[in-house]
Formats: sequence, structure tokens, C-alpha cells
Amino acid sequence: MAFSLLHRHRHPAPPAEPAEKGISDKDYGFIRDLVYQRSRINLGENKRELVNARLVKRLRATGLPTYAAYIAFIRTPAGDEERMHLIDAISTNHTSFMREIDHFRFLSREILPAAVQGAYRENEFRMWSAASSTGEEAYSAGLVMANALGEPPKMRWTCDCSDISTRVLQTAKNATYDASRLQQVPPDWVRRYFTQASTKPGESLFQVRPELRAHYRFHHLNLLGAAYPFTKPFHLIFCRNVMIYFDRPTQEELVDRLTRILAPGGYLLIGHAESLTGVKNQLKNVRPAIYRKPE
Ligand SMILES: C[S@@+](CC[C@H](N)C(=O)[O-])C[C@H]1O[C@@H](n2cnc3c(N)ncnc32)[C@H](O)[C@@H]1O
Repeated sequence: MAFSLLHRHRHPAPPAEPAEKGISDKDYGFIRDLVYQRSRINLGENKRELVNARLVKRLRATGLPTYAAYIAFIRTPAGDEERMHLIDAISTNHTSFMREIDHFRFLSREILPAAVQGAYRENEFRMWSAASSTGEEAYSAGLVMANALGEPPKMRWTCDCSDISTRVLQTAKNATYDASRLQQVPPDWVRRYFTQASTKPGESLFQVRPELRAHYRFHHLNLLGAAYPFTKPFHLIFCRNVMIYFDRPTQEELVDRLTRILAPGGYLLIGHAESLTGVKNQLKNVRPAIYRKPE
């Protein structure tokens, strides 16, 4: 003991680097492992700059001067909420209305007409936007539904939305978007399905109408976490632009879980930059980025 104290005194630990200098190998390794454990997002070595850019803001928000101090904090029970903010800060939430529009055309031209004609032998159509981010994907699908089925609809439909980030999920629940985000939505649909939500000068916000919002439910969930909270199978699952962040075993586990909760004949849509090639699965690839569970 005496020796170690003396030793420490003679060779004091170098002061921890301020965050602006970047993140050390050890600290990056810790953050990478934590993010993987909590979200299964696989941060490669080349994401270090991005992680640093995003976490500097968390250091500022918590008032902690170094990564060493930040990590020490998130290891304590008091750091529980901050661990959530960390995942929020790391995850990429980019999305937009009518993104990858072929999927919405396929919904309107193929999936919905078949559903209305009784393809699923049910008078209810259930969708899930599984990594919904701020909601644009789910509401784009809802606009297609409302346009095809009317409001009130001639067939019941629901849409569950989920994300690992509470922050983006809150935006999805609010369903309020700046006019600039609605550029890909046909103006007629904006008039029919949105209300002006702000009258402040210089602000132009639109909110999805309450009749449409009534079809939606929101869940904070990790796609690779606890059992899903759904009781009925889905006819359509959007799981787009999230698989790209996972490693192969995680992708296989996720596709297996999604397949189990799809109704026979139900569809899984993935991002156009993603592919299930090389990912073991029981689905039929019917179009690019469109998979179907056998009947
Ligand atoms: C790039 S956005 C995709 C949004 C939308 N699906 C689209 O394609 O436009 C990816 C979303 O996946 C969420 N995410 C990442 N890992 C997740 C996980 N393990 N479980 C649930 N959501 C996750 C992120 O929080 C983020 O909002």
C-alpha cells in the first residue's frame, strides 16, 4: 500500500484529455461496447470521429469536462438517464416523408387492394413502423391509407410506431412538422390530412389531423430487446434503414423476430440500401427491398 501511494505520488496519472482533443482508444472501446449492449448498433473503428462529434454535446450538457469523467458518471446508477441520452445521441435518425417512394406505391397499388379484397381474411390492416424515428415513414403510410380508404376508413387500420430513442418518438407522437419537411407530400394531401399548427410569424408548422393520428400507437422499444408488446400479427412491417447499423448475427436475429410477428402473406420492407442477401431468412424476395412471408 505504502509503495503504491509512493509510486503514485512520484508518477502522477497524466491529466485526462479535454473532450475537444478527441476520444481515447480505451474510452472509445467502452462507449462502443455499451452502445452495442444497449442497442446492438455496431460502431466500427471508423465511427470514432462521428461519436466524438455527437458526444461532445453530451459532455457539455452534463457539464463533465472529460470522457473519463463522463464514463465514470454513466457507470453509476445516477447515470441511468444519461445512458439513454447517449444512445439517442449516437443513433442516426435521418428520415423524410415519402422516402423510398416505391414502397408507398407498392402499398397503394398491390398490398392494399389485395387486403381490401380479403387477402388476409380480416377486416383490419395492421402496420408497424419498427424504427420509426420522428414518424415521417409511418405517417406517409397513413396518408396512403387515408387516401385509398377514406376517413373514416372502409377498412379498419392501425399503425404501431417504435424506436429506441425516446426523443424521436416524442416528435413522432407530436406529429407536427415544418412545412419544409412536407415538400414530397402532394399539396392536396397536405390540405386534407394536416392542420396548420402555428400562427407565429416566421413559423410554418403542420400537424397530422387527429382523425388520422387516432390510428397510431407508440412504443419505446429496442428491436433486439425484450419480447415485443404486440398481440396480433402485422400485415406490413417497415424496418427500413436500421439493419444497416447491425452486424450479421444481429440482422439474422432481427429478421427472425420480425418474421414471427408477420401474418402469413404479410410484407417486410427494408431500406433500399439494405439487403437480406447472406442473411438467413424464411421470406420471399418479391421486389427490391420487399419481402413476403409465405402464406
Ligand atoms: C435512420 S433512422 C430510419 C428511420 C425510418 N425507418 C426511415 O427509413 O426513414 C434509424 C432509426 O433506428 C433507430 N434504432 C437504432 N437502433 C435501434 C434498436 N436497436 N431498436 C429500435 N430502434 C433502433 C434509431 O433511433 C433511428 O431513429
